[in-house]
Amino acid sequence: MSPSPDIHPVDPDVAANARIDRDAYERLYAESVADPERFWGRVGERLEWMRTPTRIKDVDFDARNLHIRWYADGELNASVNCLDRHLEARGDKTALVFEPDDPEHGAQHISYRALHERVCKLANALRSLGVRKGDRVTIYLPMIPEAAVAMLACARVGAIHSVVFGGFAANSIADRVADCESKLIITADEGRRGGRTVPLKANVDAALKLPGTNSVETVLVVRHTGAAVDMQMPRDRWYDAVTKDQPAQCEPERMNAEDPLFILYTSGSTGKPKGVLHTTGGYLVYASYTHELVFDLREDDVYWCTADVGWVTGHSYIVYGPLANGATALMFEGVPNHPDTSRFWQVVDKHQVTIFYTAPTAIRALMRDGDGPVKRTSRSSLRLLGSVGEPINPEAWRWYYEVVGDSRCPVVDTWWQTETGGIMISPLPGATDLKPGSATRPFFGVRPALVDTNGAILEGEAEGNLVILDSWPGQMRTVYGDHQRFIDTYFRTYPGTYFSGDGCRRDADGDYWITGRVDDVINVSGHRIGTAEVESALVSHPKVAEAAVVGFPHDIKGQGIYAYVTLLAGEMSSEELRKELVAHVRSEIGPIATPDHLQWAPGLPKTRSGKIMRRILRKIAENAPDQLGDTSTLADPSVVQSLVDERLGR
Ligand code: WTA
Repeated sequence: MSPSPDIHPVDPDVAANARIDRDAYERLYAESVADPERFWGRVGERLEWMRTPTRIKDVDFDARNLHIRWYADGELNASVNCLDRHLEARGDKTALVFEPDDPEHGAQHISYRALHERVCKLANALRSLGVRKGDRVTIYLPMIPEAAVAMLACARVGAIHSVVFGGFAANSIADRVADCESKLIITADEGRRGGRTVPLKANVDAALKLPGTNSVETVLVVRHTGAAVDMQMPRDRWYDAVTKDQPAQCEPERMNAEDPLFILYTSGSTGKPKGVLHTTGGYLVYASYTHELVFDLREDDVYWCTADVGWVTGHSYIVYGPLANGATALMFEGVPNHPDTSRFWQVVDKHQVTIFYTAPTAIRALMRDGDGPVKRTSRSSLRLLGSVGEPINPEAWRWYYEVVGDSRCPVVDTWWQTETGGIMISPLPGATDLKPGSATRPFFGVRPALVDTNGAILEGEAEGNLVILDSWPGQMRTVYGDHQRFIDTYFRTYPGTYFSGDGCRRDADGDYWITGRVDDVINVSGHRIGTAEVESALVSHPKVAEAAVVGFPHDIKGQGIYAYVTLLAGEMSSEELRKELVAHVRSEIGPIATPDHLQWAPGLPKTRSGKIMRRILRKIAENAPDQLGDTSTLADPSVVQSLVDERLGR
C-alpha cells in the first residue's frame, strides 16, 4: 500500500538517536507479549528494591477468580525511587521547576536534594500527627510544589493518598473523604488560576461540615496566597509550622509491591465516582518506563506536562514517572490564556522546555486565536510534543505539529486511562510513523483487541469496542472498598478481557484510532464526567422531578454537557431557574461539571419499561433530529417531537 499523504514517517535523525527504533519496537513488542514474565522481570530492574521480586506476574482475568498481582514478593518505597536514589548522581539537578500563575511572581527551581528534604520533613510531620502505613490522606492543593511533596511524603510513610482536583466543590470533596475515610487533609489557604483565587480552605471547611467526614482528625494548611482563613483549633494546623522543625531525614516505610500507593476517584457510567486503586511496584515500573520511552527521555530534558496533579496524568507524568526517572519536570500553576494566549510558549522559552505534553482541548482553544501568539515566541528548545485525554482531531493535530512544533517535533498521541496507570497506545518517536488523529500502536506488553457487541474479536481492519487481553504492571487493582464493582465494571462485559469503555477503529496498517467513550461517561475538556452524577445533582434540587444528561460535540471542549430537565408539577420554567440549576450543579459537583445547555423537557423519551432512551436525546442535543432512528419502542413518541421543537426554537 502506498503511504497516504497523512502519514508522517519517522524522522531518520530522531530514529538514529532514539532509545527505540522501528526494529527494536517490533522485537521488544513481540518479546513482551510472548514472555511477559521475562520481559517485565527485566524492566522491573529499573527500580531500586528493598527486596528484589522473584514472582513477576500473577494474573487471572476470569471474573470468577479475578486477581492481578505484579512483583508480588518485592519490597520498595516509591519516594526512595523518586528521590533518595538520585541524590548521589543528581542531588543538585533540578527536580521541579515551578512556574506560578502570575509570571511576575518568579519561578522556583527545586533540586532533588531540596525536594528530598522537603518530603522528609513533611513525612516526619505526618508521622507525628499519627499517620501510619495504610491510612488515607486527602490532598486538595493547587498546582504548587507542595502537591508533589505531599504525594511523596504520603508514599514515604506508606499512607495512601487521594488527590482531589481543586475544581471540585465541597460536596465532591466530602464524598471522596467519606468513601476512603481520610484521616488527614492537606490543603492551602487559596489557589490561584488565571489571576483569580480559589477558596480551597473554605471549601474544605464546608466539606467537613457534611455527613460522613468525621474520620478527618487534622487539616494541614499551606500558606500560599496569604489570605486570611478560618483556622479551627486543634483540627487545623499550618503546614509550615508543623514541618519547620522536623528532621531532614526520614526512614522510609518498607512497602510490598502490592501495597496501595494511591486512590484516585474517577467518574463511571453509573453511581458515584469510583476510587481507582493503584499499588506501588507495578505502577511505578510502568509509569517510569512509559515516561522514559514514549518521551524518549534524555538526561538534560526539561519536561513539561500541563495536566493538574488532581488527574491521573499529573500523578503518572508530572510526579511519579518523571521523578522516578530523575528528570526535570515543570509544574505550572496557571492557565493557557493568562496573562495572554502566548503564555504556554512564553513558559517554554523561559525554561527552555524540550518536551511538552498537553490536552487537545487546550490546543483547540489556542488554535482559535490563530498563529500570532505562537509565532511571537521562539520554541526552538522543543523537540517532542504529546497529547492526552481525548481524541485529537486531525485539524488540531496538524496545527500542533506545524505551528507549535514548526513541523520539527514528533507528536505522540497517547491513549490511556486513570485505570491503566500509564500510557497504553502511543507512537514512540523513533519507531512509529505518525498519523494525525491516531494513537497508533500498543506499548510493550499491551495487547489491545476490538470486539463487537457480542464480544467476538474482530480481526484486521475493524471498528468495535476496545478491550485489553492481558494485564500490564500499571493496571488498577481494585475499586477502593468495592472489589465487586471493579469486576463488574471492567471484566464482565467481555469476559476474560479488560473493557476500556472506549470505541476504537483499527486501520489496514494496524494503527488504532480511539473514537471516544461508548458508555455514559462524557469527556469534557479531557475530564471525565458521569452523566449519572450530573443527573443526581440536578434532581437534588427541590424543583426538579427528573433529569437526563448526555454529551454533545463541542468545538473546544471535545464534548459538552447537555441536560434535559423535567420540573415538578406546578413549577414554572424561567431563565432565572435555568441559571439557578446550572449554579446548583456547580456547587454540588464543581465548576468542571457546569452544563453547557439546559433544556426544559415536559417529558423524557422512555421505553415502555421506563428506560430513558439516551440515544435519542444525544441526537436531539447534536441538532440532528433527522437521525433519531427507530422511535417505535417509546412509551409516548410525542415526547420526542416536543423536545425537537424546543431545541429548534419552534
Ligand atoms: C480518553 C486520562 C483518545 C478515553 C489519561 C479514555 C483518549 C479517557 C486519549 C480516560 C487519546 C485519553 N485519544 N481518547 N490519546 N487519552 N482518552 O481516566 O476516552 O481521565 O477512556 O485518563 O480519556 O480519561 P482519564
